Amino acid sequence: MSKRLGFGVDIGGSGIKAAPVLLGKGRLEQDRQRIETPQPSTPDAVAEVVARLLDHFGWHGAFGCTFPAVVQHGVVRTAANVDRSWIGVDAAALFTEVTGRRALVVNDADAAGVAEERFGAAADCDGTVLVTTLGTGIGSALLSGGKLVPNTELGHLLIDGEDAEHRASSAARDREELSWADWAARLTRYYRHLEDLLWPDLIVVGGGVSKHAAEWLPLVEARTALVPAALRNSAGIVGAALLAADQ
Ligand code: BGC
Repeated sequence: MSKRLGFGVDIGGSGIKAAPVLLGKGRLEQDRQRIETPQPSTPDAVAEVVARLLDHFGWHGAFGCTFPAVVQHGVVRTAANVDRSWIGVDAAALFTEVTGRRALVVNDADAAGVAEERFGAAADCDGTVLVTTLGTGIGSALLSGGKLVPNTELGHLLIDGEDAEHRASSAARDREELSWADWAARLTRYYRHLEDLLWPDLIVVGGGVSKHAAEWLPLVEARTALVPAALRNSAGIVGAALLAADQ
C-alpha cells in the first residue's frame, strides 16, 4: 500500500523546522531539519528559509506551515513574538510565490491542536478539547467533535490585569527563574480561569516544557483532566501537513 505523504514547516522565534509527514500515521517520515530563524525575522528572510527547507527534502508539492501569530485565511494579523513587519502580510501568498509550491499557513497552536486531536493525546476524546502550548508565548487551540475554532488566542487572557503569557509561559518561568511549584501555581490560576470559561472535557499541555511534565503537571490543580502532549516537537509540523492535505 502506498504511503500518503505531506509536508509541514514549523516557524518559531528561534528555529524554522520542517519534515515530510506520513499523513495516515501522524508522524514524521524523516528526521526534521532545522534552520535558525533569521534576525530580523522579516517576511522575505523567513520565506527564503522555508524555500531552502523544501529544497533540502526535494519536496515539490503543496505544504502546510505554522506561524506564531493570528493567521486569518493566510494573512498574519498580530505579532506578539515576531517581527512587526509581518502584520497584514498574506503569508500564504508570499510563501507560494517564493517557493513555487502551494502554501497553507496556520497559527502554530492550531496546527499542534489538530495533530494532538487526530493522532496524539486527545485522539480518544470526542468532546471539547483545549490544547495549550507553553513556550515563548502561550498558544491555544480549541476543538470540538474534531472541528477546530481557529485563532482562539487564549494566551492573552487577562489574569489579575496581566497578559497570561507574560506570567505563565515557559519563557516567564525561565525569565523569573521560578521553581516548578511556583510556576505550577501560576498555571493553576490560568487553567482554572480557562476551564471556568470553556468547560473543556480535556486539556492537552504542549510546548517544549511538556517533556518535563512529570515534574510540574501533577502540581497544577484543575478540575479538568490535564495531559501532556504526545507529539512533542513534531506536533506543529504534523498538524500543518494534515491541514494542507485537507484543503
Ligand atoms: C501568539 C499566538 C501563538 C502563541 C504561541 C502568542 O503570543 O499570540 O498566536 O499561537 O504565542 O506561539
